[in-house]
Amino acid sequence: MAIYLDNNATTAVDPRVAQAMMEIFCEGPANPASQHSLGRSARDRVEDAQTTIGRCLDTQFDEPGGPRLIFTSGGTESNNLAVNGICPDGPLVIGRFEHPSLIEPAEALQKAGRTVRWVDINRGGEICLSSLEQAIETDGQIASLVTVMSANNETGVLQPIEQVAQICQQRGVPLHVDATQSIGKVPISLKRLGAAAVTFTAHKFHGPAGIGGLWLNSGVRLKPMFHGGQQQLEARPGTEPTALIVAMAHALELATEEMPETARQCRHLRDRLETALVERHPELVVQGASKNRLPTTSCLSFCGIDRQTLLMALDLAGIACSSGSACSSGSSPPSHVLVAMGCPDEQVRSALRFGLSKFSTADEIESSIELISNHFKRLRKISAVDN
Ligand SMILES: Cc1ncc(COP(=O)(O)O)c(C=O)c1O
Repeated sequence: MAIYLDNNATTAVDPRVAQAMMEIFCEGPANPASQHSLGRSARDRVEDAQTTIGRCLDTQFDEPGGPRLIFTSGGTESNNLAVNGICPDGPLVIGRFEHPSLIEPAEALQKAGRTVRWVDINRGGEICLSSLEQAIETDGQIASLVTVMSANNETGVLQPIEQVAQICQQRGVPLHVDATQSIGKVPISLKRLGAAAVTFTAHKFHGPAGIGGLWLNSGVRLKPMFHGGQQQLEARPGTEPTALIVAMAHALELATEEMPETARQCRHLRDRLETALVERHPELVVQGASKNRLPTTSCLSFCGIDRQTLLMALDLAGIACSSGSACSSGSSPPSHVLVAMGCPDEQVRSALRFGLSKFSTADEIESSIELISNHFKRLRKISAVDN
């Protein structure tokens, strides 16, 4: 069995979540939009799931005109929906370190003529608040939407999202937060945050892939991307997947209950991995080490070797990790995040990401330290001979 250290890309479904999902599948047809009793019972399940999600994220969905939750197919769809559908006219402000599911729609909007202003990050991987302030108001023109992620998928660096929200509130600009990597891993209060919209996805916290959410604060209007149905008040038409929604709510509930223990365990294992590797190979660079990071993430530059070669060697040795953005396995262009951080080319070319979860064990980390260290030494020797 492989040692799975690619949990920022996706996580294993928790068996308790799989069971809850199977129970719904086995109960029979479940279309929450149907008027018959089977449909009404599915609607009850979806509403219960929504209440659970609200409790975990410190928000409520039962007040008329209050916050809303739109179910989507995951983070990519929620991000596209937010950036295309919230305040779609006027300048858009976006971080250079965002996920491709925000960068690429923003580039498409820019090509189509919308003003897009890009915000820098510092060497530690944190958003530059002065660059943000400048981007929000340039030449007297205020942005119509700001989008900033809460935790970076490549470095794990947690962004000062409360400060970002405060800056946006002071200027009266709606903020969309891509919280795909942090929800289920670090606590969040949507009530207190004061964002306009927040993206999340179940498969990052041991739920199934194919279901996510876009939370919308009171009064936030959304232009739909899809048409052809009345579900979800036409904001996102299409039959709601009852079993997936129930599974997401259950996964979030478990992740929230177990968060302190999971964080403690992952931080301990992640720190052990980094400390042991850096002790053996002082030339290694831990990206974002000086900043507050997700306890589950380690981005290491193995200076002197090519990341793709090490990734393949580790794969053959039974370790699954990643050499690029969370979702783009297969091809691997150099990380736009590390480039935006101003990392030297050598660090960008040699960076691998390790993502832990509550299922990671101390034995796996000890074996990983040995295997990573041995393969790094071997590849360094080869690369020294080649050069
Ligand atoms: C920060 C971030 N946003 C969005 C996504 C896309 O989420 P999904 O795979 O659910 O479409 C990812 C996936 O890795 C991510 O890490």
